[in-house]
Amino acid sequence: MEKKTYAKITGVGAWLPETKLTNADLETMVETTDAWISERTGIKERRILRVPGAGAGYMGERALQQALEKAGVAPDELDLVVCGTVTPDMPFPATANLITHALGAKNAWGFDLQAACCSFLYALAVGAQFVETGRYRKVAVVGTDKMSSIIDYQDRNTCIIFGDGAGAVVLEPSEEPLGVMDFVLYSDGAGAEYLHMKAGGSRMPASHDTVENKLHYVYQEGKTVFKHAVAGMEQAALAVLERNALSAADLDLFVPHQANLRIIDATAKRMGLPKEKIALNIERYGNTTSATLPLCLYDYEKSLKKGDNLLLVSFGGGFTWGGMWLKWAY
Ligand code: UT7
Repeated sequence: MEKKTYAKITGVGAWLPETKLTNADLETMVETTDAWISERTGIKERRILRVPGAGAGYMGERALQQALEKAGVAPDELDLVVCGTVTPDMPFPATANLITHALGAKNAWGFDLQAACCSFLYALAVGAQFVETGRYRKVAVVGTDKMSSIIDYQDRNTCIIFGDGAGAVVLEPSEEPLGVMDFVLYSDGAGAEYLHMKAGGSRMPASHDTVENKLHYVYQEGKTVFKHAVAGMEQAALAVLERNALSAADLDLFVPHQANLRIIDATAKRMGLPKEKIALNIERYGNTTSATLPLCLYDYEKSLKKGDNLLLVSFGGGFTWGGMWLKWAY
């Protein structure tokens, strides 16, 4: 039988804006309290990108630069950049193209992948395919979002949750079974009505009316999304475990999308997973959409060792959801 090639992560990078938006700041902006936000979401502060003229690409470029340095890969060695984002620098061209150009990755092509909060998970699954097939040897996967650009800071239902940030990984081939081992991905457009942005697309292009009516912001029916998220995260986590005859005890780190601490806790409880195996940074960054998973990998990198079993799970707008079993490679 022909030997399988795996796509392993050889470097992780992150970039976060310096400016913090704390719960105390939000108390002065909308009718809310630190106690409510902490209890209902687990979030204490988020980062906000305030660099004039900078968007998701600015953060993604910096995160990827760091990932490349850690992997010992020069920009011009890159074959492909897949950028997961819901807040691209511009509707077109793709933010991946802008990042590739800014980095001097002149031999790489790239594209953006949008799957709301699952953008990075989908992008990692897609990027891995190019390595597993032998087509490419150096693939970058970026998750970057400037959520502050699509949040209404007068809407307490959404402005307390989201933050800005970016993370990135480099994928390279491995003959050893390391890296992306398996994944399940799902989507269901029936969920669109509960979490979306109404205007700015081709259905409803930008106009004076759309701006006046605040239609360029995230719209979310939180309670409904919450219920689906708990069910979807559990479904994806259990599916990956079952397909690979793994149990929660086999996992070294559970890496969930950081949308709400109560969603994460409910999922971990249903999986029978102890608290010390859960990657958490929601308290410091809030929900950074495409960046939550790579930011967790970055924050927990030092505690990981070669061969550790990680389970990445996410749920978001679309609806989109899924899970991935990863074996840490270093
Ligand atoms: O990442 C993409 C996927 N997104 C998610 O997974 C998010 C899922 N949803 C959530 O995380 C939660 O639904 C929220 C954090 C958005 C909201 O929490 P909740 O526990 O579902 O609150 P709720 O919307 O049911 O509101 C409960 C109460 C309401 O008051 P009444 O009607 O009970 O008097 C709200 O008006 O809390 C009130 N409320 C607030 N109070 C203080 C809602 N937002 C706030 C707030 N501060 N920021």
